[in-house]
Amino acid sequence: MSDYATDKNPEVTMEEIVALAKRRGFVFPSSEIYGGLGSTYDYGHYGVLLKNNVKNEWWKSMLVERDDIVALDSAILQHPKVWEASGHLAGFTDPLVQCLGECKRRWREDHLREANVEKGGNYDDPIVCPECGGELSPPRNFNLMFETHMGPVADDGNAVYLRPETAQGIFINFKNVLNFARKKPPFGIAQVGKSFRNEITPGNFIFRTREFEQMEMEFFVPPAEAQQWWEKWVEIRHNWYLELGIRPDFLMIRPHEADELSHYSSGTSDVEYLFPIGWSELEGIANRGNFDLTQHQEHSGESMEFFDQASGERYIPHVIEPAAGADRATLAFLVDSYFEEEVEGRKRTVLQLHPRLAPVKVAVLPLFNKEGMPETAREINTALRKAGIQTEFDSGGSIGKRYRRQDEIGTPWGVTVDFDTKDDGQVTLRDRDSLEQIRVPIEGLPEMIAGKLAEPWQSPKLDQAP
Ligand code: GAP
Repeated sequence: MSDYATDKNPEVTMEEIVALAKRRGFVFPSSEIYGGLGSTYDYGHYGVLLKNNVKNEWWKSMLVERDDIVALDSAILQHPKVWEASGHLAGFTDPLVQCLGECKRRWREDHLREANVEKGGNYDDPIVCPECGGELSPPRNFNLMFETHMGPVADDGNAVYLRPETAQGIFINFKNVLNFARKKPPFGIAQVGKSFRNEITPGNFIFRTREFEQMEMEFFVPPAEAQQWWEKWVEIRHNWYLELGIRPDFLMIRPHEADELSHYSSGTSDVEYLFPIGWSELEGIANRGNFDLTQHQEHSGESMEFFDQASGERYIPHVIEPAAGADRATLAFLVDSYFEEEVEGRKRTVLQLHPRLAPVKVAVLPLFNKEGMPETAREINTALRKAGIQTEFDSGGSIGKRYRRQDEIGTPWGVTVDFDTKDDGQVTLRDRDSLEQIRVPIEGLPEMIAGKLAEPWQSPKLDQAP
C-alpha cells in the first residue's frame, strides 16, 4: 500500500455497503419511521447473526483457545467515582468548534486540521467551516460521556454516566476476579458490551456511532513483563483478523506517536483497516501501565495490590489492553468481503465472508415445489439445524434468483434438492466462491459442513489479485 494519507479501499464505496446492508436487512438507520436519530443503527436478522459471529469468534479466541482469561459482564451504569478515578470526567473530551457563519454546524477541530494536512496543508494553518466557509469559534473541550440521573429527581447529586468504555467495569472488579477465579498475573478479564459516546461528528455508517459495542480484554501482568506481553498481544490481535480472512495488504499495525497517546498509555499500537474512508482504527492495543488500578486504589481506598505467595512480592499489576469495536469489526468484514463480478453476462454481488462469520451457513433449496422436493429439503434443513448449523430454507422464485439472494448475504453453501435426489439420495452442493457444483450424499451432510467450517480459510480475492 502506498500513501497512508490518501489511500482508500479501491474495491467498494461506503454507499455500496450501506445500500447492501439495508437491501438485505443487515443494518438500518434507527427510528427510521420518525426520520432517524443521528448516528444510531438497528441490526436486522443477518446483521445480528453476523455481529454475533464476530463476537463469538472473539470470545472463542479469549476463552476457549486459552485458559488464562475469564469472562465478565459488568453494569453499564457505574458509580460516578469510577469516572472521576479513570480520568474520564476531567479528560474524556474532544475539541469542539462551532461555525459562527451561516450554517452553525459543530465540528471536531482536530478532524478539520487532519483533513487539512491530508490536502497538503499544515496542521496549524487557519481553518474555516468546511460547510459554508464561515469563521469558527475558539475550541472548547466537550466531554463525550452521556449523563443521566439515578432515581426520580434530576439534580447534580445523582448524576450518573452511560459507560464510554467497558474497560473500567473490569478494573473495578479486579479484586473480585482475583479472589474468586483463582487466577494470578499474567491473566486477563474479557468483556463484550455496549458503550456510549456523545461523539461530536459521528458518521461513516457504523464506523463511528454514539452507541456501539466493544470487545475489550484487560490483561494483568507483573510490571517487568508488560512490554513483552504488549508486543505479544499486538501480534495475537493482528493475527485474529487475518485468520478470519481479512487480507494482509488491507490490514496494518500503526504505533501511536508520543503526542497521540491517551493519558493512561505508555504505548499503543492500532490495528488499522483500509476502509473506503481510508486507513482507520479497528482496534487499539495499549500498555496502560498500572494507571487504572492505582487510580481506583486511591479513589476507593481498596487495595489493588497482588501478593505473589511464591516470591513474597507485592505489586499493582500492569495492564495490556486489546480494545476492539464489534460494529467496526463487522464493518471491516463487510467491506473486505464485498465482491462484484460478471457471471454469464449478469452482475453478481457476493459477500465472500469467512464461513464461520457468514450469517447463514447453508441455504437449503428445493429446485421445484413439487414431487417431494420441499419435504426432503425440509428434512435436510432440520438435520442441519439440529447439528447447530444456521440454515435458511428458501423455496421461492427461480433457483438463479435464490442463489443471488444467498450470495448477497454471504451464504457459503447452497444445497439443492432436485428430481434425482429421491433416486440417488444425493443433493447438489454449490460453493459460493468457486461456483463449483458437486453431488454429495444427504447422509453425513451435517458432518461434512461442520468439517468445512473447522477448516482454515482464506479470502478467494487473494487468488484473484493480479
Ligand atoms: N478502553 C479503551 C478504549 O475504549 P478506544 O480506542 O477509545 O479505546 C476501542 O476504543 C475501540 O472501540 C476502537 O478501536 C473502535 O473499534 C471502537 N470504538 C470506539 N469509539 C467508537 C464509536 N464511536 N463507534 C464505533 N466504535 C467505536
